Amino acid sequence: MSPPLWAFDDLVRAADGRAERANGAPVTGLSIDTRTLAPGDLFVALKDQRDGHAFVTQAFRAGAAAALVAEGYEAAPDDGPLIRVRDTLRGLEDIGRAARARLSPEARVIAVTGSAGKTGTKEMLRAGLSRLAPTHAADKSFNNHWGVPLTLARMPAGTRFGVFEIGMNHAGEITPLTKMVRPHVAIVTTVEPVHLAQFPSVTAIADAKGEIFAGLEPGGAAVINRDNPHFATLLRHAEAAGARVITFGQDARADVRPKVLELTSEGTSIGIEIGGREIHYRVASPGIHIAMNSLAVAAALDAAGADVEQALDVLSSLPPPPGRGSRSEHEVAGGRVLIIDETYNANPASMRAALAVLGTVPRSAYRRRIAVLGDMLELGPDEKSHHLSIKDAIDAAGTDLVFACGPNMAHLFAALRPTMQGAWAERSDGLVGPLLAALAPGDALMLKGSNGSRMGPLAEALRQEIGSRSLSG
Ligand SMILES: Nc1ncnc2c1ncn2[C@@H]1O[C@H](COP(=O)(O)OP(=O)(O)OP(=O)(O)O)[C@@H](O)[C@H]1O
Ligand SMILES: [Mg+2]
Repeated sequence: MSPPLWAFDDLVRAADGRAERANGAPVTGLSIDTRTLAPGDLFVALKDQRDGHAFVTQAFRAGAAAALVAEGYEAAPDDGPLIRVRDTLRGLEDIGRAARARLSPEARVIAVTGSAGKTGTKEMLRAGLSRLAPTHAADKSFNNHWGVPLTLARMPAGTRFGVFEIGMNHAGEITPLTKMVRPHVAIVTTVEPVHLAQFPSVTAIADAKGEIFAGLEPGGAAVINRDNPHFATLLRHAEAAGARVITFGQDARADVRPKVLELTSEGTSIGIEIGGREIHYRVASPGIHIAMNSLAVAAALDAAGADVEQALDVLSSLPPPPGRGSRSEHEVAGGRVLIIDETYNANPASMRAALAVLGTVPRSAYRRRIAVLGDMLELGPDEKSHHLSIKDAIDAAGTDLVFACGPNMAHLFAALRPTMQGAWAERSDGLVGPLLAALAPGDALMLKGSNGSRMGPLAEALRQEIGSRSLSG
């Protein structure tokens, strides 16, 4: 049996806290949310949207082994062991740093940031490294001021490979997080015009992403995208941090570049040369952007001293994370309908990449290519032109029909040839009816939009409805 995640006394020391009602019970996990708390967890009472201190007693009822609370918390009679600290977020950060510090010197830690592809890249690394040795990685997109320390604090002492996602909405947010994680390898997947409302320029975004190298361990590696227009900015940050630089991309100057690249709607076959060896592998998630992320994965695996070939082999059977290109086929009267679910999020770059995937759906299997597009949010003052700029990618994909929703997509929709205009609605739920009325056997649909455009519920509604209806042409 593996040892418990934390001994209670070690947690008290790590958080520099004061123990109360201690009973010696070990802590097997950490939770900040009583709805997902598992028995044996340390419940951390964070003040975020709501004050977690209101849920401490509930956490103990759900089986919490202990709770990390502020000095002023008034304990209820039924509460269990408490660790009192001045500030619970600081306490969680301290526990995270202690978890990082207790890893063995052989352990290797990889951090991933970028405007898109963080979670997908992290999941590729997790899947590949898990095959080789005990690996710990972030849940979901836990990449912010509480997600990163929480992921660190959950890391077992015996971890050989740790994989962290680090995100940001403002300049200066990545620096403290990467200094907590202290990665041996730091990846920037890409720099794109997202969060433009918070940044004066895309170069400023590149500067903010480049902060990740400030936390690198001495002798650590920076893995950066050679194809990105902001490569030089990233390189400057990597060099300033004293990093060993490894570049990836299609550029002839990239250290890791594809010598073979075969894109299909079902995945990509890639051949690379790395460490003096040729390696061929397959990525089950389709799209050039995912293929490029896999090059960053290969570079990071090599820099972390892992068996690159064995780890990459796993990618041929790794499904995309939910809403990032997951496919479902639906039998309907007279044929099949394909749904490509890209509803997790969108920016102009990922929108183009997803449309290109729609463009690789073979005509022999599906007659019509249908794009269902929701607004891309947080694009700043040029949001209209960012939306209009997608038209080229729609045409290049051989798209037959477009359904759109939201005020920004209205501009794009109006610019389309009338024969390509399916329907426009203010909100995503307004498209369920028009889509069901228009769908026919042999249709391939790709749905995409920013999280806030609620394209996910639309995809879910279509999957439910199509399964139970017979469609006619
Ligand atoms: N290198 C890339 N360039 C452009 N788009 C990409 C790239 N990699 C992934 N994407 C697309 O971006 C979307 C988000 O992917 P993913 O969840 O991996 O990103 P993320 O950076 O973790 O996002 P978040 O900031 O929301 O956590 C998906 O649609 C995915 O296909
Ligand atoms: Mg993410």
